[in-house]
Amino acid sequence: MPRNDRLAVLMMAGLVMVAACTAPAPTTTSRPSEAAPGSAAPNTTDTGVPLEGIHAADGLGDSYYPALGNEGYDIQSVQLELRVDPEAPSLQGTADYLVTALETLDSFTFDFDTLEVEEVAVNGAEAPHSHSGGELRIDPEPVIEAGEEFEVTIMYGGAPVPFESTAAPFRTGLVQGLDSLFAFSEPDGTSSWMPINDHPLDKATYRIAATVRNPLVVAASGTLIETELVDEDTTRYVWESNDPIAPYLVAFAVGDFVRADEVGPSEIPIRNYFDDDIEPDLLVPFAAQSEMMAFLIDTFGPYPFDQYGSLVVDTVDLGAALETQTLSTYGRQSLALGEDVVVHELAHQWFGNSVSVGDWSDIWLNEGFATYTQWLWLEHKGDADRMNTDIEFAYDVMSGAFYLAEAGGADAARQIAQESFPPPGRPAPDDLFNASIYFRGGLLLHALRLEVGDDDFFNILRTYADRHAYGNATTEDFVDVVEGVTGSDFSLFFDAWLFEPEIPPIPELGLEPPR
Ligand code: ARG
Ligand code: ZN
Repeated sequence: MPRNDRLAVLMMAGLVMVAACTAPAPTTTSRPSEAAPGSAAPNTTDTGVPLEGIHAADGLGDSYYPALGNEGYDIQSVQLELRVDPEAPSLQGTADYLVTALETLDSFTFDFDTLEVEEVAVNGAEAPHSHSGGELRIDPEPVIEAGEEFEVTIMYGGAPVPFESTAAPFRTGLVQGLDSLFAFSEPDGTSSWMPINDHPLDKATYRIAATVRNPLVVAASGTLIETELVDEDTTRYVWESNDPIAPYLVAFAVGDFVRADEVGPSEIPIRNYFDDDIEPDLLVPFAAQSEMMAFLIDTFGPYPFDQYGSLVVDTVDLGAALETQTLSTYGRQSLALGEDVVVHELAHQWFGNSVSVGDWSDIWLNEGFATYTQWLWLEHKGDADRMNTDIEFAYDVMSGAFYLAEAGGADAARQIAQESFPPPGRPAPDDLFNASIYFRGGLLLHALRLEVGDDDFFNILRTYADRHAYGNATTEDFVDVVEGVTGSDFSLFFDAWLFEPEIPPIPELGLEPPR
């Protein structure tokens, strides 16, 4: 079976959401600004022009995508005032940023793809700028001193175009659905619709105002604080998030949505936005959200944000969902995964959104945890049989046992698995969402649980969620928590699970690679 068919089997099994994007699209551009890991010299611009003097270096130091972000400043808050037409599609607006300089800046860059920049001001004064290759370079006058707080205003607009992600074979950015436009930006697509410091290390609060033609509706992260009928044809919606959000996690969508409200555990409001073309049958799994939240609060600790909900968009071919903060976004085709995908995206609010990766190479910390939560939910519902079947199936695929018949021998079967599913600690930078990130990542957590016992295991999850809440963490931070809670050295365990080509055995379950 060729590799894609094998992944299709995984997806059909309802276990993983790595479908290739997405809905019908305008032309896709590829992104010139992001070089392969290691190839972008930190002190040159994306066009290779050396930055002299006291310019902040471009890039935020990500080991996989060094061109993303900029380490010279930290955005505190973003305010967008947009006009959006999802059909054109077009987006026009002003972005206001409150920023802290981390170094002295005579120049700095925002990640910004192909929309047009009309005007840039720094502290109210027009600032020279240039825009090319996915970077908007701004030269403030006077120079910004290290530690200074400053304001940036950018007027921009045009037709938003999603682009081929550097990290995976799918489109990322502001995507057009059947009657909608929605953000699906992991990991590097936010710059297709706003200028931004595009790395999870720079979280900010957001206030998003968008004016749209009636009866279109705007949904976004946070709380809807204002709905103003501007005239008989247009309405302005204002959404506000007080908790900081990583750029790729900002939810934003315009479409024919119907809002459905309920009250979740601890009085947390749940507001769902369902595209009015989605059949009610497909929405049944969302009825369990409140119970899922109660279970996850019990298991991981307090829900990190002020509200939750799900946004379902009508798409032709988007078998994936994205855990956009406080409002997860689902393509129609992802709903085939039922409660698995719903609990997966909810789990990311703790693991991914509150605790975010500090470096994209640590993506298993997001997807392994969310995948393992799917199994925890089955166990909680009393479906231990399906939990065990899913775990065994995942192990068989990852170890190669699943390919025994096809490969005609254990050595060949193991080799197929190792070629298709590299160890999750070191995914290929152009295949960031490989199934191994999900399955071997999830299996690692189950193996850890069997080794340390339930008390320590759930204590580890709660300690990790609490210690790094609203921040960033790396694999090392997680290992520190494991070793702190258990008092034992786990370096061999993590090396084997994250970096060895062959998946370790799980003796407690009698699982091992075929020999
Ligand atoms: N973080 C998403 C998830 O919950 C994966 C998004 C991948 N993107 C895509 N276009 N398939 O699994
Ligand atoms: Zn996920």
